[in-house]
Amino acid sequence: AAQLNRVAQAAGKLYFGTATNIEELSDSAYAAIINNRTEFGQITAANVMKWDSTEPSRGVFTFGAGDQIAALAKKNNQLLRGHNCVWHQQLPSWVTAGHFDAPTLSSIVSTHCSALMYVSKFQIPLELNFHPQTKDSWDVINECLNDDGTFRQSVFFDTLNTSFIATALRAARAADPQAKLYINDFNIEGQGPKSTAMVNLVKSLQAQKVPIDGIGIQAHLLVGGVPPTLLANLKQFTALGVEVAITELDVRMTLPVTAALLAQQRRDYQTVISACQAVKGCIGVTVWDFSDKFSWVPGAFTGQGAACPWDENMVRKPAIDGIIAGFA
Ligand code: G3I
Repeated sequence: AAQLNRVAQAAGKLYFGTATNIEELSDSAYAAIINNRTEFGQITAANVMKWDSTEPSRGVFTFGAGDQIAALAKKNNQLLRGHNCVWHQQLPSWVTAGHFDAPTLSSIVSTHCSALMYVSKFQIPLELNFHPQTKDSWDVINECLNDDGTFRQSVFFDTLNTSFIATALRAARAADPQAKLYINDFNIEGQGPKSTAMVNLVKSLQAQKVPIDGIGIQAHLLVGGVPPTLLANLKQFTALGVEVAITELDVRMTLPVTAALLAQQRRDYQTVISACQAVKGCIGVTVWDFSDKFSWVPGAFTGQGAACPWDENMVRKPAIDGIIAGFA
């Protein structure tokens, strides 16, 4: 069977990638697939680079788990996507309940982002420090918008209004001038109030000379639910002069799995990939894990699942043919 990163690169994209978690790698069938660079050219840590894993107490940085993912990518010569610097979830309570004043929280955000991207600046002796290679990317800001296009309430927004976004991006750029800096969000696949808000946010950052290189489109989709304006939206985003990546693709369905649902899922994967393929500035696609065995979906959506391109037994699903056809 054709392998996905090879197909993506032959089509001119930078990579086809997947999210993963360390404990999944002890499944040998799973590990054999993820360690195959012709299948996956890029890795995202699904959890272990988040704030609760990396700065569990103020100023105490714990990078060991994240470095295991970085080491995996390095060993396999895969690109790394850092995920993420600033998000309203998976935060330690010292951040959420800290009642910091604005200057203090701003400095906490800045320190955290700098540390994630260039740990040795803080004299923390680590072998890998999530070391970005050229073309590695970071989701510096994750999910800062609501579906209606307003800014999401969070400890950051409530204390700092939108200034935390520029603070985080500037700190990230200063710490690692090589890395591609992204804002990442869901429900911005099609055109609508949220994607319009993303356009306006990027424009306003650009006007203020805040470093911003890319928009991450998560693409957690439901079977049959690819927005018809996806392609137009990719064009709208890349017209801003930033790159775009599909960062967390999966296509869930209401269980049980049927042949008809798998066929529609195949078409949905193809539709998403072919939209990215049609837009030069869409640089690559990452699935939010590749096997149904480790998908986040059943834990988050009761009665839904089977969202990934490989099933729970590491067997390739029709979705893979859709992905390959999408890159054609
Ligand atoms: O680490 C604990 C473990 O100690 C405990 O025994 C276990 C029991 O529930 O929970 C473990 O933590 C879980 C963690 O994943 C690590 O596995 C959390 O409960 C669980 O909520 C957490 O879910 C993650 C979720 O983000 C949190 O919001 C998913 O794995 C992860 O795939 C998901 O990823 C997000 C992206 O970061 C942003 N975009 C949406 C995407 C899907 O929600």
